[in-house]
Amino acid sequence: MKTLEVDVGHSRYQIAIGPGLLGNRAVLDTAIPGRSVLVVTDATVAPLYLERLRSGLGGRRVAECVLPDGERHKTLQTLGRVFDALVGARLNRDATVLALGGGVVGDVAGFAAASYQRGVALVQLPTTLLAQVDSSVGGKTGVNHPGGKNLIGAFYQPIAVVADTDTLATLPDRELRAGIAEVIKYGCVWDPELFDWMEGNLEAVLARNADALTHIIARSCEIKAAVVAKDEREGGIRAILNFGHTFGHAIEAATGYEAHLHGEAVAIGMLIAADFSHRLGLIDAAAPDRLQRLLRRAGLPTRPPRFGAAKALELMQMDKKVLAGAVRLVVLEGPGRAGVIAHYDKSVLDATLAEYFG
Ligand code: NAD
Ligand code: GLY
Repeated sequence: MKTLEVDVGHSRYQIAIGPGLLGNRAVLDTAIPGRSVLVVTDATVAPLYLERLRSGLGGRRVAECVLPDGERHKTLQTLGRVFDALVGARLNRDATVLALGGGVVGDVAGFAAASYQRGVALVQLPTTLLAQVDSSVGGKTGVNHPGGKNLIGAFYQPIAVVADTDTLATLPDRELRAGIAEVIKYGCVWDPELFDWMEGNLEAVLARNADALTHIIARSCEIKAAVVAKDEREGGIRAILNFGHTFGHAIEAATGYEAHLHGEAVAIGMLIAADFSHRLGLIDAAAPDRLQRLLRRAGLPTRPPRFGAAKALELMQMDKKVLAGAVRLVVLEGPGRAGVIAHYDKSVLDATLAEYFG
């Protein structure tokens, strides 16, 4: 087992990464305080891993809340089901919410934990690659609104993250690829060596080689922990972790959160953002080309549905990075270097949107 630490000042917690952790009583006893837990999971993950988790929870009082599966259920209505389960089980402030699943479960359960009785403990038990490399760490929680992605939520750090790498064995290939998109993101904005490593070892990752998966999960969590430690609430540098997301979120919202997985939309968004960076003269043409090749090799899409540049811009204007009406965008400035810009030639953005969205 590998252990990393996240330290955001007011909160400090461990990320445990390794095989066999969900049924490991000692690991769970360290991560989970108290006698009462609500396990929040989804209808796909429950039959696969709920029993395994129960076996590691010992004599605790365990209530369960099984949510419908999928991004389109990341809604206020689904959040209400978690509150109903918390109240139904008569759980008090000493309860711990356990988020067992992918990023959707983690974000919904996390927001429920942030707000139930003004905050109960949260432990993230991520079971997708995307959740293990990104969403379970850093404390962003929330749900979507039909008008935009993740518009309702809170920053709320978990007290522990336990990533059982065995769970990745049952992950559909498409979901594995979606998680790879977020790993490539870290390579683009922070760690050029990770990008090189992905180019050299992609086949091992796609074949789910245990060492390769552990390497990318641990490295991604290290990067995320370092960025979040500097800027928990995204006042500055954390925004670079949203590389590709402003375009990606627009793609998700425009298609009713159904056409593309989050990681797929991020893959397309990263390529658009890289091309935009090139059009602004910040990077040379080789960089988006190289990114496109890697995304394609990973089996990720690189073109969005053509729902129109005007619609894309309208949705981008609801992005959480918009300040004083300006759509701020994460751009690449070199290998492993990114920044956020608010002032740029609008005609370059218009031309980029027209190229990709029609
Ligand atoms: P997801 O939660 O929808 O999970 C993907 C699918 O895999 C689901 O069908 C799920 O039931 C299934 N699944 C989960 N674990 C499995 C397993 N081990 N075996 C088989 N099937 C399994 O999606 P995701 O890609 O994990 O997360 C995407 C979400 O995360 C988006 O809503 C995105 O906005 C959010 N996100 C949040 C943050 C953050 O910082 N909070 C960061 C990145 C993404
Ligand atoms: N996924 C981007 C962030 O957590 O900031």
